[in-house]
Amino acid sequence: MQHDAPWTTDRLKLEREGPATLADQIARHVEVAIAEGALQSGGRLPSWRDLAAQLGVARGTVRAAYEKLSDRGLLVTAGSAGTRVADLLPPAASSAKAPAECLEPLGSQYRSSRPLVFQMGVPAQDAFPATLWARLHRQAVQSASLRTGHTDPLGLPDLRSAIASHVAIARGIQCSPEQIIVTSGFRSGLSIALHAIGAAGKQAWVEDPGYPVTRLALAMAGVHPVAVPVDDAGLVVEWGRDRAPHAALAIVTPGQQAPSGVALAEHRRAELIHWASSCGSWIIEDDYLAELHLAGRSPGALAAGKGAERVIHIGTFSKTIAPMVGIGFVVAPLPLARRLIDIATALSAPPNTALQLALSTFLSDGHYLRHLRRMRRLYAQRRLRLLETLSRSGIGAAVPAGLTVLLPLPDGFDDQRLSLDARVFSLGPAPLSPWYAGASQPRSGLMLAVANVLDRHLEQSCRRLLAMIDGYPEMASGPIELGCGQCEVN
Ligand SMILES: Cc1ncc(COP(=O)(O)O)c(C=O)c1O
Repeated sequence: MQHDAPWTTDRLKLEREGPATLADQIARHVEVAIAEGALQSGGRLPSWRDLAAQLGVARGTVRAAYEKLSDRGLLVTAGSAGTRVADLLPPAASSAKAPAECLEPLGSQYRSSRPLVFQMGVPAQDAFPATLWARLHRQAVQSASLRTGHTDPLGLPDLRSAIASHVAIARGIQCSPEQIIVTSGFRSGLSIALHAIGAAGKQAWVEDPGYPVTRLALAMAGVHPVAVPVDDAGLVVEWGRDRAPHAALAIVTPGQQAPSGVALAEHRRAELIHWASSCGSWIIEDDYLAELHLAGRSPGALAAGKGAERVIHIGTFSKTIAPMVGIGFVVAPLPLARRLIDIATALSAPPNTALQLALSTFLSDGHYLRHLRRMRRLYAQRRLRLLETLSRSGIGAAVPAGLTVLLPLPDGFDDQRLSLDARVFSLGPAPLSPWYAGASQPRSGLMLAVANVLDRHLEQSCRRLLAMIDGYPEMASGPIELGCGQCEVN
């Protein structure tokens, strides 16, 4: 369908003395209008002559701007039908932001209510048990409205019991409901744990590459992150022990390392526990994805094995159910339980009561385990299809990494810029390079989350993405060659 463009040039203020050419400024403005949805697929742009007259520039300048955008597949010129916006994927809610505005906040792409294709951090939208959840939530809202008193700052007793049972079954962790602190997700669990450990001013090992939000959270809490490399057996414990033996804690994703997807090998687990026990340090186990292991059984939790008394286990339902649930939990190891409980009571408000009640029923009635089983199957299928599609396009170097497929790019490729530009096409790949903190050479690449890769968009989305990559100046020397082995995460 073609639309008349509700687009004006009112906001286009050309800087005639600025560093960017007039054509580039016009092209950028049109690109932003497409990203914001002001210009939609099929929308007609003013003729060169009209726009040139409106802006007081030469016709050739507008033509050059349009040509740049045509080269990038954003516009099509159709003779007397004029210049129109190309047939793009449907705009998603998050594209309402101009790419330039999205440069700053970490994880800003997670904030859209409707996920982009390849976007990380969100579950499959089409597979979310919305009717069931709505029913449980409705009942919970009714029941919560009768509870007008204070709620337990550590979480509703029923939910704490349901979580304790769940982690015993699914993660092999033996704990009592009194050791469970309900939080609003990993980040609030981390914050409680850092306070309880008294980590400010001390060192903390973090995985490199690793979750950038964790590093940011540490920096904001006055903790000094020590980037410890990760290889195909997970965290290189020996490296951390040599460089920062007296760190107060280590934060790890042993079940499924973020972003590489590798599980922490048995010998590394033993080394890590040994280090923590002998130095009196703590291990924060970020178990965000361990239950969604796509190949075989999930690796065991550190908090389930020998040395568990040094492990603060943090779980979250934001990946396994949805970020909107906004609930996670801490399993407090006995030696630190009193302190964690006191900190949580003083500093952290429990999540909304109705949501806690709904989640409690979701867990105890068996819906959660069923949902996890379905999601594992679905994500494994989607990951496979994405890998097959990339492979048919000649991209054999793409590697599965947890719930994502990692597409390595040549060293020095501006993966951040590409990720922002891709949003114009409603694609949400995440750049790999910001996950590196300096212990190892940052790799450039794209992380393509598989959760919302639907068959009907797959071919077109991959084609668009690969065409964009090929169009980048870094690729001037030839089409993309990714089968280079050296591009793997480590
Ligand atoms: C490594 C890692 N840990 C934890 C989380 C979940 O964090 P939260 O529960 O705060 O949303 C994510 C989400 O993307 C993640 O990538």
